[in-house]
Amino acid sequence: MTTDDDPFLAVRDGARHRALAELAARGPVHHLTLATGADAWVVTGYAEAKAVLTDPRVIREGASNSPYGEEMPAALYSALNSHMLTTDPPAHTRLRRLVSAAFTRRRVEGLAPRIERICADLLDGMAKTLEADGEADLIDAFAGPLPITVICELLGVPSESHAAVRGWAGPLLAGRFVGYEAYSRAAGEFVDFLHLLLADKRRQPVDDLLSALVEVRDGEDRLSEDELTSMVQLLLLAGHETTVNLIANGVKALLADPGQLALLRAEPDRLPAAVEELLRFDSPAQAPVPAITAEPIEVAGQRIPAGENIVIALLAVNRDPARFADPDVLDLTRDDGGHLAFGHGVHHCLGAPLARLEARIALGALLERFGDLALAVPADSLERLPSLIINRLVVLPVRRA
Ligand code: HEM
Repeated sequence: MTTDDDPFLAVRDGARHRALAELAARGPVHHLTLATGADAWVVTGYAEAKAVLTDPRVIREGASNSPYGEEMPAALYSALNSHMLTTDPPAHTRLRRLVSAAFTRRRVEGLAPRIERICADLLDGMAKTLEADGEADLIDAFAGPLPITVICELLGVPSESHAAVRGWAGPLLAGRFVGYEAYSRAAGEFVDFLHLLLADKRRQPVDDLLSALVEVRDGEDRLSEDELTSMVQLLLLAGHETTVNLIANGVKALLADPGQLALLRAEPDRLPAAVEELLRFDSPAQAPVPAITAEPIEVAGQRIPAGENIVIALLAVNRDPARFADPDVLDLTRDDGGHLAFGHGVHHCLGAPLARLEARIALGALLERFGDLALAVPADSLERLPSLIINRLVVLPVRRA
């Protein structure tokens, strides 16, 4: 399969959903060779995805979680991949517990005033660009910088390094699509940066999450050095790349659907429900990290032997007609919830409360500031980045109507 017909990689906007819907129409589970060359069992059915994501025989340890696993220097690989997403209980439980308190709904609600301030400042900048140039890239001006600023501030990454972190995230998430050179350079620079940053926090602890993690590592020895570095890189990458897409894909979906946009403008109380529907309709993450079968399992009557790769196609799962009526319709009045955009089971997104809060504040502030925002190009001319992990528009040009 080439990148052109791999359903995960179709570039033209909407093509990925169409390709996955065609696949899903043939059944809930499929044995495919992906464009990366890997053979995988791809799950497109909602009920089947839920079952697989909670099946203890489907595990992360031993799965191929890095695009260049064997080719990478071992030390670099370990510094990047010893985190909760690539581990199973009990190691997973220990790692997740160390940071879970920082991401509870109550804790993140306290960040709301700061998130509102960041949004207001970014929207000031975007208003100036719109005035000067007639249009702006919503991702560059707003959806991109917001989540990176929030997660970096929460962890304690100094502001002069935010842009560099954003720069390393691109190649790390694009994986094989940027080539080994660019991938390993970004990985090496990112890990060097994290080592220096953590050494700084060790010398001079302050009241931030990174200092607290260093303290756990040194004081109570519940974290190895590679686990510490991996945890921080996971929080930094997971904490922003997907939230960018929730905001950008969400704005795009609303601007392309004047009826739903008008409904939300008229009834802003619908914002929390709207965020859930946008998560379902154009999910920010394409798939949880790959897993493998530790033992043979059966999915929808299909026997899958031990040692096989499993990929959950979240874009298809969240539009499974057996679970969601009229799945291709954006309907902000849906009240059936239940999308799997944040995953499911023990690896269910740790940052979901933060992502939801950021998206609610961002969408609310954007709609309030610009009563006349419109797409500056036809929706079907937009393109997506090739990535097996994220569902990301390359740019989202907007203008005032
Ligand atoms: C896990 C999606 C935002 C941190 C996950 C998973 C998904 C996901 C699908 C499960 C992956 C798997 O099973 O392999 C999203 C989406 C987001 C978002 C769609 C935004 C719209 C965030 C934020 C953070 C975060 C803001 C902040 C720290 C994590 C972490 C995990 C995770 C640490 C791993 C949890 C574990 O393995 O136990 N996310 N995420 N995510 N997410 Fe998010």
